[in-house]
Amino acid sequence: MKETAKAPSNIAFIKYWGKKDPELNIPNNTNLSVNMSNLITTTTVEFSKSYPEDDITIDGEKKPEEISRAIKHLGRIRQLAQIDLKAKVVSNNNFPKASGLASSASGFAALTIAGCAAAGLKLSEKELTTIARLGSGSASRSIPDGFVEWVQGHDHNSSYAHSLYPPIYWDVDAIVVLASLDKKEVGSTEGHEAAYSSPFYKTRLDHMDNKVKALKKALADKDFITFGEIIEAEALELHSIALTSKPPIIYWVPVTLTIMKLCQQLRQQGLAAYFTMDAGPQPVVFCQSRDAKNLVLELKKIDSIKQLIINKPAKGARIADKHLF
Ligand code: PMV
Repeated sequence: MKETAKAPSNIAFIKYWGKKDPELNIPNNTNLSVNMSNLITTTTVEFSKSYPEDDITIDGEKKPEEISRAIKHLGRIRQLAQIDLKAKVVSNNNFPKASGLASSASGFAALTIAGCAAAGLKLSEKELTTIARLGSGSASRSIPDGFVEWVQGHDHNSSYAHSLYPPIYWDVDAIVVLASLDKKEVGSTEGHEAAYSSPFYKTRLDHMDNKVKALKKALADKDFITFGEIIEAEALELHSIALTSKPPIIYWVPVTLTIMKLCQQLRQQGLAAYFTMDAGPQPVVFCQSRDAKNLVLELKKIDSIKQLIINKPAKGARIADKHLF
């Protein structure tokens, strides 16, 4: 009853921002993402009679808020498997969590895969994405391979994620620029609720279907320029909603803006680099792989950057054989 899983984080091209059903994490729009090869969570779960209570350690720490979300998720798995055993869980991220790098996506994807396997459940990928979604919406997208669509749906079974293309489909790089290592002040749960208070949120929802279609076409055509223009505009729109929520949410730090402007400059010089961002300060800069070396050189010229993490499109969550305990 001990299993380990590895799951990638993912970055959304078209964002999930605002929930139709906050209990089930049903999003207000279909959204699209790619898995990130160098942002990985590894999680081992063991259900056993020998544990009097759930014992959860994440990155060597036992933080009450994280533990209670994880225990809630274990409860869902126990209910499905009809078992009553407590679990030991050890989980490690290879990147700084809670800084807007979507550790909850990789975290809940890994917990779902390892937890369900450890509980003896045999589920389809589609079912696993719906369970991961209950832990954290974006976690559903970290389960299928490569380029992923989370279909909005209208209830638990119809809101699921699936792969559009495998990781090798498109030779692009996603460079995460760590602009700040501080824990972000406003978590995504609060952000999703706050979206409704922006006067522009309804306008956003009205054009989401078209945006999703346009991005899917750019992916199908491997049209990098159109793809870049859409993801950048979408990131700015997400942040416009955050900035105009009440109270306003300002995720950016000065380096965030520096990178945004650098992308514009680089494009003028002929280097096709486009940024996106989640609800945090860290830009993720996309380029075609042939341009990655030059882009990294340019980014390294900016002193205040804490770290660059270079990612390729990656496979989704899977079982691993090396346990953490
Ligand atoms: O899965 P959550 O509740 O942490 O929400 C993720 C929200 C964004 O990262 C801002 C956008 C997205 O689609 O990943």
